[in-house]
Amino acid sequence: MSGTFISFEGIDGAGKSTHIEALSAAFVAQGRVVTRTREPGGTPLAERLRTMVLNDAMDPMTEALLVFAARRDHIVQVIRPALARDELVLCDRFTDATFAYQGGGRGFDWALLSTLEQWVQGGDTLLQPALTIWFDLPPAVAAARLTSARVPDRFEAQPQAFFEQVAAGYGRRFAADAQRFARIDANQTPEQVWLDVLAAVRQKGLLP
Ligand code: TYD
Repeated sequence: MSGTFISFEGIDGAGKSTHIEALSAAFVAQGRVVTRTREPGGTPLAERLRTMVLNDAMDPMTEALLVFAARRDHIVQVIRPALARDELVLCDRFTDATFAYQGGGRGFDWALLSTLEQWVQGGDTLLQPALTIWFDLPPAVAAARLTSARVPDRFEAQPQAFFEQVAAGYGRRFAADAQRFARIDANQTPEQVWLDVLAAVRQKGLLP
């Protein structure tokens, strides 16, 4: 596999979307072929699973299994083929979100999530992003940003305490594999956040 896989993470309201868009444009300007995708989702089947996960009541294990089922389809149908074609894959959330939301937020068993990660991303090598850009924002700030947003889904509707747990989950993933992450202070102006994102990508040697 020769392409490059980058994921974007953070609690709801951290402001990933505009920066994913801008980074995609920056790579295209360098002549790279970019596959922009998201999780849960990215294939017709995974998008149907996304609708369920975001809207239907379910217990934490069902939720964890559905996000990994969606991920498996996404990896097989989209991510691995794009990397094999030497493309750049920009994915709005990946497995760190499962550890943060289902592990941290819902309290689902961390070791079991690690087992599922091995199953779903395994093969000759464990599929992981080369770089994970983590938009780190205090949950209180994120909550203030989200209040005027659209109708909340099952996650956005959670209280701030849930997002404290999610943020702690991200922190735990970061601590376990810090060199994969670029931790961006998202509590700055969008312009400054963008400069930090660019600097992180350049530091990895992915953009000149
Ligand atoms: P999000 O990425 O914030 O998309 P949008 O910008 O359209 O709201 O929404 C996805 C939600 O799914 C988000 O609240 C986090 C949650 N999620 C999980 O709980 N587990 C996962 O493994 C993933 C990938 C996402």
